[in-house]
Amino acid sequence: MDWLDLSFLKKDLKVGALIEARGLTKKFSGLTAVSKVSLSCERGHIHAVIGPNGAGKSTLMNLLSGELRPTEGKIVVDGVDVTGYGSTKMSLLGVGRSYQRTNIYPSLSVLENCNIAVQSRLDMSMQFMRSVNAYPDVESGSRRVIERLQLDSLSYKKASELSHGEQRQIEIALALATDPKVLLLDEPLAGMGAEESLNMIALLQRIRSDFAVILVEHDMDAVFALADTLTVMQNGEIIESDKPAVVRSSPRVQEAYLGTSIDA
Ligand SMILES: Nc1ncnc2c1ncn2[C@@H]1O[C@H](COP(=O)(O)OP(=O)(O)OP(=O)(O)O)[C@@H](O)[C@H]1O
Ligand SMILES: [Mg+2]
Repeated sequence: MDWLDLSFLKKDLKVGALIEARGLTKKFSGLTAVSKVSLSCERGHIHAVIGPNGAGKSTLMNLLSGELRPTEGKIVVDGVDVTGYGSTKMSLLGVGRSYQRTNIYPSLSVLENCNIAVQSRLDMSMQFMRSVNAYPDVESGSRRVIERLQLDSLSYKKASELSHGEQRQIEIALALATDPKVLLLDEPLAGMGAEESLNMIALLQRIRSDFAVILVEHDMDAVFALADTLTVMQNGEIIESDKPAVVRSSPRVQEAYLGTSIDA
C-alpha cells in the first residue's frame, strides 16, 4: 500500500448523507400520500422538494421528523436506522424542523422564546439520558443562535411586535435552538412579501454550510436560488429528482404543473 493512501481511514469517517429516506410510503386508509420515496441530503446541501398541492410534501416532512410513522420504508439519520422513532427522539438525534403554523409565544421576547426552545431540548435530553450535569447556560445558547442568524437587533422585541417575515426567521432560530444537524423546513417563505423572501433566502444562505437542509417551498425564486438538488413530487411519488437546471427543463415536470412553466 502506498504510504500516502489514506483510503483505509474512510470506513471510520462519517461521510455521505446525514438523512436518507429509502422507499418511504405513507398510507392514510385508502390514500397513499407518500409512495416509495427515496432521497437523501448531506451536510452543506439543500435538497428542495416541490410539487402541486396535495403531492405529499408535508407528509414526507412529517415522516422525516418522526411525527408520522411510515407504512413502509426506512429513514436513516447519520448512518443510523431511525425508522419508527417519534419526534422527540428524532429531535434528540439532530433532526430539527420549522413548523408551517407558528409556535412562537407572542407575549415573550425573541430571546425568551429561544430560551424555551433551548430549555425544552435540555429537558428532553435529561429525560432520555438522565444526565446529572447541571444545565449549561440556557441563555448563552439562545444568544449563540440569535447571533448566528444575525438577528441580534430583535432579541428584546416581543414576538407579537415582529413582522411576519421576522417571525418566520425566529422560527428558524427556534429550530436551530434544538441543535440540529438536519433541518426540515416546510414552506419557510409562506405568506412573505418580496423583500421578506429575500431576507429569508439570505438567512438560509448564511447558515446552510452547517446543516443538511430539506426544503419544501412553493416559491420558485427561492428554490432555484438555494437548491443543490430538486425533487418533484406528484400524487405521493417522485416524478423527477436531479440538479435544478435539469429538472427545470423536464417535460414531465412542466406537465405536472398543468402546462405552466416552473421557471423562476
Ligand atoms: N393525517 C391525514 N389523514 C388523511 N389524509 C391526509 C393526512 N395528511 C395528509 N393527507 C392527505 O395526503 C395528501 C398529501 O397531503 P400533504 O399535506 O402531504 O400535501 P402537500 O404536498 O404538503 O400539499 P400543500 O402543497 O398543499 O401543502 C393529501 O391528499 C392530503 O389530503
Ligand atoms: Mg404542505
